[in-house]
Amino acid sequence: MTILVTGGAGYIGSHVVTVLLAAGRKVVVLDNFCNSDPSVVERLERITGCPVPLVHSDVRDRERVADTLRRFGVDSVIHFAGLKAVGESVSKPIEYYGANIQGTISLLEAMQSEKVGQLVFSSSATVYGDPGYLPIDESHPTSATNPYGRSKLHIEEMLKDVALASPSWKIVCLRYFNPVGAHASGLIGEDPAGIPNNLMPFVAQVATGQRSFLRVFGQDYPTSDGTGVRDYIHVMDLAEGHSAALRFVADHPGWNAINLGTGRGTSVLEMVSAFERASGRPIPHEVVDRRPGDIASCYADPTLARQLLGWQATRGVDDMCSSTLAWQKNR
Ligand code: NAD
Ligand code: WQD
Repeated sequence: MTILVTGGAGYIGSHVVTVLLAAGRKVVVLDNFCNSDPSVVERLERITGCPVPLVHSDVRDRERVADTLRRFGVDSVIHFAGLKAVGESVSKPIEYYGANIQGTISLLEAMQSEKVGQLVFSSSATVYGDPGYLPIDESHPTSATNPYGRSKLHIEEMLKDVALASPSWKIVCLRYFNPVGAHASGLIGEDPAGIPNNLMPFVAQVATGQRSFLRVFGQDYPTSDGTGVRDYIHVMDLAEGHSAALRFVADHPGWNAINLGTGRGTSVLEMVSAFERASGRPIPHEVVDRRPGDIASCYADPTLARQLLGWQATRGVDDMCSSTLAWQKNR
């Protein structure tokens, strides 16, 4: 049977496609290319040697999604399609609720009409807000401080209701911490348009001379070196976690939320040092004021993923940096 990967031309979705195809699964990608390039699909075929059927559509086009489910004999869906920039969501809440919440509702309506009940949803550690304790386990209270995080939270709650309504639904919400890195081929990776908001693509652009220096947003946090601490997880570890989640969801009706993180915190300056080791070059940087809305520390308790999915992250910070650099050079 086939897996529908919505947003499969995007950063995380494309890496998941490589893992699924390598595991002998069939996939079909649906994407509107609002934040990715159609050439990713050809590159996926080059990397895997497998065909990657593509449906160029918005996930909100319910009829198109239903037709895709039917035509390709889809039995499971991984739902990546959506908008994800926190800052942008504050200035464009209607666009974010439309793409993320309306998009998910359209997908659910299509799945219901075609009797497809297995869903893995891309959620985010952002649903934990400012952590009350660390490491963060799945019982940690959830909250949102921006429209993007609120859209994720609303979707998780919606999916809980859907799963309660009928035992035919089998739903897992994967709460990603900070995905970074790239496929070993150097052919796919994080490809942000314009000035990167996230740390890793920005550091990569400094390392390759595209940008002159990194602004470190604050060095007065209560952390080991005063800079922000995050749980960076290699995108290939994340991708393998999705493959494990698909196996889990096939046998587990209901709703589950599972963290995908390493359980380790890395500070900004530690990541800069790791990148300097990977590139063999200094990363010029300057400490500036904190970025509004940033939290001091955030890292996962990954116990539940190990217990339920038999999965844990294996790749370290050095691989995250070297694979990011190789991709940036190829870009
Ligand atoms: P991305 O922007 O690279 O990928 C999203 C893909 O979905 C893109 O190819 C885009 O063109 C497509 N898309 C967006 N809206 C669509 C729509 N309405 N119809 C069809 N296609 C649409 O983002 P990503 O980093 O790969 O993230 C994938 C998912 O994971 C998102 O839902 C995001 O919220 C979530 N997530 C990402 C991170 C992260 O740091 N990257 C962390 C936690 C959760
Ligand atoms: C990491 C650290 C910054 C850039 C975001 C979203 C979250 C999720 C993952 C979707 C922080 C510091 C950053 C820079 C810096 N996305 N930094 N200089 O903010 O943890 O999470 O991406 O779900 O929702 O909020 O990631 O990479 O932006 O920042 O010093 O130029 O790097 O202060 O401590 P963040 P990030």
